[in-house]
Amino acid sequence: MSKTKNSKNLYTCQSCGAQTQQWQGKCTQCNSWNSFEQQGYGSKSEQVKPSLLSEIELAKVDRMRSGSDELDRVLGGGLVPGSVILIGGDPGIGKSTLLLQTMCHLSHELNAMYVTGEESLEQVRLRAEQIKLSNAKLGILAQTNLEKISAAIDQQKPNVLVIDSIQTIYSSEEASGIPGSVSQVKYATTTLVQKAKQNNIVTFLIGHVTKEGQLAGPRVLEHMVDTVLYFEGENDARFRVIRAIKNRFGAVNELGVFTMTDGGIRDVPNPSAIFLSGRQATPGGTIMVCWEGTRPLLVEVQSLVAESYGQQPRRVALGLDTNRLALILAVLQRHGGILLHQQDVYTNVVGGLKIQETASDLALIAALLSSHLHCAIPKDVAIFGEIGLSGEIRPVPHGQQRIQEAAKHGISHVIIPQANAKGLKVNGVKIQTVGTVKESVLVIKSLMKETAK
Ligand code: TYD
Ligand code: MG
Repeated sequence: MSKTKNSKNLYTCQSCGAQTQQWQGKCTQCNSWNSFEQQGYGSKSEQVKPSLLSEIELAKVDRMRSGSDELDRVLGGGLVPGSVILIGGDPGIGKSTLLLQTMCHLSHELNAMYVTGEESLEQVRLRAEQIKLSNAKLGILAQTNLEKISAAIDQQKPNVLVIDSIQTIYSSEEASGIPGSVSQVKYATTTLVQKAKQNNIVTFLIGHVTKEGQLAGPRVLEHMVDTVLYFEGENDARFRVIRAIKNRFGAVNELGVFTMTDGGIRDVPNPSAIFLSGRQATPGGTIMVCWEGTRPLLVEVQSLVAESYGQQPRRVALGLDTNRLALILAVLQRHGGILLHQQDVYTNVVGGLKIQETASDLALIAALLSSHLHCAIPKDVAIFGEIGLSGEIRPVPHGQQRIQEAAKHGISHVIIPQANAKGLKVNGVKIQTVGTVKESVLVIKSLMKETAK
């Protein structure tokens, strides 16, 4: 791809996509340096005719199974031919392991090729032995040169391809900059996306994540691919979670839950049960019912409220949003009469999960109260609901399914928003509703009295 020069000057930030009429040294949107490049336009003389929406035919896509139900789920039900999937995550979290495993599985029926730019052939073989898949008919190519990789793709004609990792790939002919630079990574991605679309190759691009949690270098990569998956979880935690951040072929925020074993990565088919296993009712902990992608998930939220001796009390939220915690503390003070301004507040979601859903608000309030008053909430209680700034408890979607999931895991009592309660009924579950933060505080206190008896 050569850059077309034209009369109109438009410069695009290669990091965040911001556009300006004049070249700038520093992007005012994302603060990257030297990220602006001039853009070209296509020719105007071509005749282009739009298709009528009603006459566009839908091709039926046959999705391929990846061999992991959890991975299929995050992908929206399996692999779509010709799709490009960017998979990001911290070093050592298991990206190479998961994809090697997936490719070994796929290689039984498809022509699969794994391009490794980070490890030698021997290292890949060793890993395959560790996961007991070393007899798979998988093509491994240790190569970082884009032109050579392209030639190998043309010769081998794979149906599935892994590039591990996109940051190691460089073009000797077209792009400028060192391997891993914005222009190189972007150019390599453009080339591989084109190849994927032309030849119907499912392409996985592995990407590293920087400390700030962005895929290293160009965020523009996210716009160029069909699906963006992120590996979440701590390296030493038992669980690994893969979340779909963007998916042209499925739901976003869909979660796949895995566990890392000595013999590779395994699916966790029933995450709620695992997250709650061995749980005891202790002060500061309670169960919330979240909605992740297309399914409900029960997880425990814990909090610790302790007297603060610093000048400013600490607010720590692991797996939850710190701003959300601050907001909830303010609402709790203003509308619930609970003052925690002289207390340090720590909160944590058990299992290393990151919860973004506001439906977790009410459970967080319960956990805070429980720690503050040093009294446990009964084990068989689950809570969900969103909190508004004027102290109201707001409804959340999928109330019925959340309660059904809770019932499946031995919950017999739920506390939910009043506005969710209409027509709700789940056998064997007591449904208690709350309309305001004030009322919630009373209800949660009375629950704790029961355990204190
Ligand atoms: P890896 O897939 O190399 O991570 P990434 O490609 O994301 O950098 O995973 C490496 C880690 O996983 C390493 O700490 C060893 C561990 N591991 C297992 O626990 N079990 C296994 O079967 C394998 C292959 C690796
Ligand atoms: Mg790796």
